[in-house]
Formats: sequence, structure tokens, C-alpha cells
Amino acid sequence: MVEAQDKTPVLTVDGPGGSGKGTVARITAARLGWHFLDSGALYRLLALAAEKRGLSLDEAAPLAGLAKGLDVRFQGGEDGSEPAVWLDDEDVTDAIRTEACGSSASRVAALPAVRQALLARQRDFRQPPGLVADGRDMGTVVFPDAPAKVFLDASPEERASRRHKQLKEKGMDASLRDLVLEIAERDARDRARSASPLKPADDAVVIDTTHMSIDAVVAKVVALLAGAGFQDRMGP
Ligand code: C5P
Repeated sequence: MVEAQDKTPVLTVDGPGGSGKGTVARITAARLGWHFLDSGALYRLLALAAEKRGLSLDEAAPLAGLAKGLDVRFQGGEDGSEPAVWLDDEDVTDAIRTEACGSSASRVAALPAVRQALLARQRDFRQPPGLVADGRDMGTVVFPDAPAKVFLDASPEERASRRHKQLKEKGMDASLRDLVLEIAERDARDRARSASPLKPADDAVVIDTTHMSIDAVVAKVVALLAGAGFQDRMGP
């Protein structure tokens, strides 16, 4: 069983917020018929659970304990749409997508004990026929042996404007000016932290998506996977 899991291919899709990685990873997973891991959602869920319990976002031990027992469920999304997300039997699909929750997620994500507590849970997503894993450290730490890795990036202005559009589509209030600042602050924290900082794996293909459509990025990623010899693992 362990051996079968280890051989299961993983495509890692890392990058900063607004680089398009979430959407690209989800659509690519649906196109391939592979499983999908939204690792950022786990950090967001932990931040939300901590706030609900009145835990400080800087205290490693209680947060790591909470991370280990986190009762979360992802539902649907096999068609490339956003899955519904449940925490303790409560639908938190929208609650975890606010920029405030993203910021809190980035604070708890800076704690090594929290990252360690979530490691096994993330690796459990590696199931046949394959996994597309979206995050910051998928290629560097969680799945360092993944046979295919991409790192998506885009200019800070483009990333803020994409995030703005995403939030508006969900009916959430967001000022573009605030988002530029919040995204810059979150990025700086993600890149500067000592535990699993945001950076491309040495063997990742870096794609600048600033002037690319989602479809074009997905096509490029799928071509890359085909080039790496995974045609036979792809769905119809
Ligand atoms: O990707 P998303 O915006 O949902 O991630 C929220 C936050 O969770 C990020 O800003 C980052 O600090 C953290 N994160 C992480 N490692 C991952 C995924 C997300 O540190 N693999």
C-alpha cells in the first residue's frame, strides 16, 4: 500500500496568492481525473477554528494540537469547480475565503509545529490515479519527490487585481488598494519565514502568468505533464 502510494504521481503547483495557481490546479486535476489538495484551505480552516475557540494565532502548541484533530471535509469539485468546505459540520466555504482569513492563515502557517502537524494530513491526499497539490511548499517540502512541479507567479498588480475580481464574484467587499497592501504583507511573511518559505523548488518550472489566460496556463501545465511521461496516467 505504501509503495503504491509512493508511486502515485503528484503535480505540485506552488506560488503566491493571485498567481492563478488555485484555479489552474483545480482545473488541471479535473482534466486529468486526479485528486486535488488545496493546502491553503487547511491553513485557513485552522485559523478559523482557532478564532472560533478564542485561541491566540501565535501560540504554537495549542494550534498544533488543534491542527492534528481538525474535523474538515471537502465535498464535490470533481468537475473543476470550487469544492464546498466543512469545519465541525458547519459549511465554511465562503468564511475561509475572506482576505482576513487568508492573513490569519499566513500567521499560523509561519509556525513550524503547525506545519509539522499538517504534514501527514496533506500527504494522505496522495492517492491513485494521481494528485494535483496546490500551495506554497508542495514541491519543496510536502512532496519533494513529485515528478512534475510548477511554480506560478504574476506581477503584484495583476495578482491584486485577480484577487479583487475573485472576491467580488463571491459577493465580498474588497478595496483594491487594501488588497495590494494585504497581499504584499502576506507575501512578505510567506517568503521570509524560516519554516518552508514560499520559493520555487530547484526542479520546478516557473511560469509567469501575468499575461496568460487560465486556459493557456492549464494547457502548458498539461503539456508539461505529458512531456514528463504521464500520458498513461491521465483520464480520458
Ligand atoms: O493559498 P491560500 O491563499 O489559500 O493560502 C493562505 C495562506 O496559507 C498563505 O498565505 C500561506 O501563508 C499559507 N500556506 C502555506 N503553505 C501552503 C499553503 C498555504 O503556508 N502549502
